[in-house]
Amino acid sequence: MDLGLQGKVALVMAASKGLGRASASALAHEGVSVTIGARDSEKLTQTAQEIGKTSESRVLAVPCDVTHPEDLATIVETTMQEFGRLDILVNNAGGPPFGYFDSFDDEAWQQAFELNLLSTIRLIRLVLPHMRQAGGGRIINIVSTSVKQPIDGLLLSNTIRPGVVGLAKSLSFELAPDNITINNVCPGRILTDRLLQGASVQEKLAQGISAEEALSGQTKDIPLGRLGKPEELGALVAFLASSQASYITGTTIPVDGGLVRSLL
Ligand SMILES: NC(=O)c1ccc[n+]([C@@H]2O[C@H](COP(=O)([O-])OP(=O)(O)OC[C@H]3O[C@@H](n4cnc5c(N)ncnc54)[C@H](OP(=O)(O)O)[C@@H]3O)[C@@H](O)[C@H]2O)c1
Repeated sequence: MDLGLQGKVALVMAASKGLGRASASALAHEGVSVTIGARDSEKLTQTAQEIGKTSESRVLAVPCDVTHPEDLATIVETTMQEFGRLDILVNNAGGPPFGYFDSFDDEAWQQAFELNLLSTIRLIRLVLPHMRQAGGGRIINIVSTSVKQPIDGLLLSNTIRPGVVGLAKSLSFELAPDNITINNVCPGRILTDRLLQGASVQEKLAQGISAEEALSGQTKDIPLGRLGKPEELGALVAFLASSQASYITGTTIPVDGGLVRSLL
């Protein structure tokens, strides 16, 4: 299926690896010119080169910490200078730390707010003039199944990420007259470095247990019986960016192998 994305330009955040990288790669393989951002410049440049080589699309690496407003302004400006337009924004960031209520002080709450909600707000504000100028656009936020069903031990995600969903739903009606859609995708358990960060997994890795074995307990409650692959989320991001997805806005779609049991 031709997704009608040739000639479009995307900005994909937190994309040196994992889900951001898979999203950038899926878009690049559809002929989209892509700017990717993350903090580690060397890793980011390497990722841009790898995606550029396999896709033949232009992939620009712009080092960026999503919690620094000046970095966000720079990455949007650089994208406009290099590509002349901006059609697609994929909001993504690192995940907040694991932990329960007693382990978080005000600073931890503030950091999670800046990382997982304020960065999204700021980026949307920066890209909107360019999308309006282009006659429309696509905003896709990578969140978590925690917005559908709180995850034990992930209090910051359970609390902050639903704010992104509220924002997106509200903006879906505000931005509809501008032909800009906004949707959320919710990874369940997808095999990236993030999944290896949990305390119990780290304990097993420290004991010399392989990553595969350390994560084997995490597939038991997934109806499809396995962890997800980053490209399975990237494919949904590319579809939501496509012309075929022009009537889809304000939605929150899990990519979780059936893990979340809720009806909505
Ligand atoms: N994988 C899953 O199963 C899963 C499930 C639910 C939710 N999620 C969420 O999905 C998002 C992506 O996760 P992932 O699995 O792709 O993680 P990952 O493989 O660890 O990749 C995280 C990416 O975010 C970048 N990053 C981290 N902090 C950043 C910052 N302040 N500014 C800019 N870039 C930053 C990292 O690069 P640098 O460190 O170089 O900046 C890296 O490129 C996270 O928010 C995660 O919590 C993932």
